Amino acid sequence: MKFDTKVVRAGIEPDPTTGAIIPPLYQTATYVLEEVGRDKGFDYTRSANPTRQLLETNLAAIENGRYGVCFASGMATVDSCLKLLKSGDHVVCSDDVYGGVSRHFNNILVNYGLRFTYVDTSDPGQVKDAIRPETKMLWVETPTNPLLKVTDLKAMADIARDNNLYYAVDSTFATPVFLRPLEFGADMVIHSTTKYISGHNQLIGGIVITNDEKIYEEMKFVQKTIGAVPSPFDCWLTLLGVKTLHLRMQRHAANAQIVAEFLEGHPKIDTISYPGLPSHPQYSIAREQMSGFSGMISFELKGGIPAGKALMNNVELCALAESLGAVETMITHPATMTHVEVPKEERYARGLTDGLVRISVGIEDPDDIVADLKQALEKA
Ligand SMILES: Cc1ncc(COP(=O)(O)O)c(C=O)c1O
Repeated sequence: MKFDTKVVRAGIEPDPTTGAIIPPLYQTATYVLEEVGRDKGFDYTRSANPTRQLLETNLAAIENGRYGVCFASGMATVDSCLKLLKSGDHVVCSDDVYGGVSRHFNNILVNYGLRFTYVDTSDPGQVKDAIRPETKMLWVETPTNPLLKVTDLKAMADIARDNNLYYAVDSTFATPVFLRPLEFGADMVIHSTTKYISGHNQLIGGIVITNDEKIYEEMKFVQKTIGAVPSPFDCWLTLLGVKTLHLRMQRHAANAQIVAEFLEGHPKIDTISYPGLPSHPQYSIAREQMSGFSGMISFELKGGIPAGKALMNNVELCALAESLGAVETMITHPATMTHVEVPKEERYARGLTDGLVRISVGIEDPDDIVADLKQALEKA
């Protein structure tokens, strides 16, 4: 099956009872056993649910992976992956990860004896230098949230293999439409399915996909033991969202390219980051490993913080909202929204200033998005 066909069809057959083309929603907590010790493959929805299983099969197929394990959110997925480690283990992590991920690592997991070093993973030298004897995992986000840094996934695979590390890639921004990290040697691919995969701002969810049977078994065990599972209804809604993932992503990327080029040429813009612009520092690696550049842009205005705030307060079509990857264009202020709990010194050291603006470009007509930004920039 070709990629676009997999997106629409993989794992999904007409319902054998009714012929329904859309899979039924198994909104159930439990299942009646045929007799003691014999069930039909399902005993309790925390352990397994047919609707969730369909989503896991579908998304694993799209990532070119063997196994998928869904969780109640992207963060529950991140937490579950870190359960592969033990107290005393050390993780080397991308320095520009989503603020919720570093908040979790630095405020919760450190209390359980895990240690973290943040480096710019777009520089393989920094990753090599950060590895210690107790390093057990390499955690890469690419492109990163919010600075859109791109990491060379093959280079990371070599480092992970040479040092016997679990190699995890948060690919939420790229989606399997533009990047499939397992094909570059990752052990695990993580998505917040809240974002592009479900795509319509309608739910919170996450998934980890792997080819490694042992990792899969461990993730299944964590899923059923901790129970951070998505509801069957959210899985069903996600399945509907996935059916147009390839079409949406093409439009997100096409619109983002137009918006990025408009912003780059605007006299009030100071810096801009979009992997599809030749000015992006990792443009060549992005072109090599991604088949499109997705829909996320971040930038700073020349007027700094007041100008950025004026822009965000004056948009009319773009929604001032926390989140990304949905059909509506959303504009975010990372310093007070998505990354509010990253300490200021740390944010500034990362280049994540108070004036930074992030746009998740939607699938509206690009002329309307540009017109809205243009009028808001005039007031900034
Ligand atoms: C790259 C990335 N990973 C993980 C998450 C966490 O996902 P969720 O909000 O579904 O818990 C986010 C949320 O913004 C994200 O941007």
